[in-house]
Amino acid sequence: MNAASALPVAVASDHGGLGLKGLVVARLQAWGHQVEDLGTQGTASVDYPDFAARLAAGVVAGRYRLGVLVCGTGIGMSIMANRFRGVRAAVCGSAYTARMARAHNDANVLCLGERVTGPGEAEDILRAFLDTPFEGGRHARRVEKLDGQA
Ligand code: RB5
Repeated sequence: MNAASALPVAVASDHGGLGLKGLVVARLQAWGHQVEDLGTQGTASVDYPDFAARLAAGVVAGRYRLGVLVCGTGIGMSIMANRFRGVRAAVCGSAYTARMARAHNDANVLCLGERVTGPGEAEDILRAFLDTPFEGGRHARRVEKLDGQA
């Protein structure tokens, strides 16, 4: 797939994830992805549910191919994003869990924690998330059940 011609990857953070969001945006652009940065843009304290909701609504509406949310731990972002039907947000702390989130769970939103994951590890996680396809098969039936289908 030509990543540059596909729908954008949306990225958002609160103040706790601002620095890592910058790294994520830079790497995505360097790797040829279209990126939509949904904020936050400054160090002022903001509420992570507002940013997770903005991104998750766009994923559900089909405006973004994938999303990346960053806060202090990734946890608050994931809780909010997963309230949107059709969003499968996964907090990943390793490249292995990022690969599994895509291959088995068809995760469409990656959640990272700037206070728990260093920049090098975060880059590996992001790369694994982007490069791993959903395996389908028996996993497709299970993923359908997440939204009350099948
Ligand atoms: C902000 O201090 C922090 O609570 C937030 O970034 C996130 O870690 C919440 O889950």
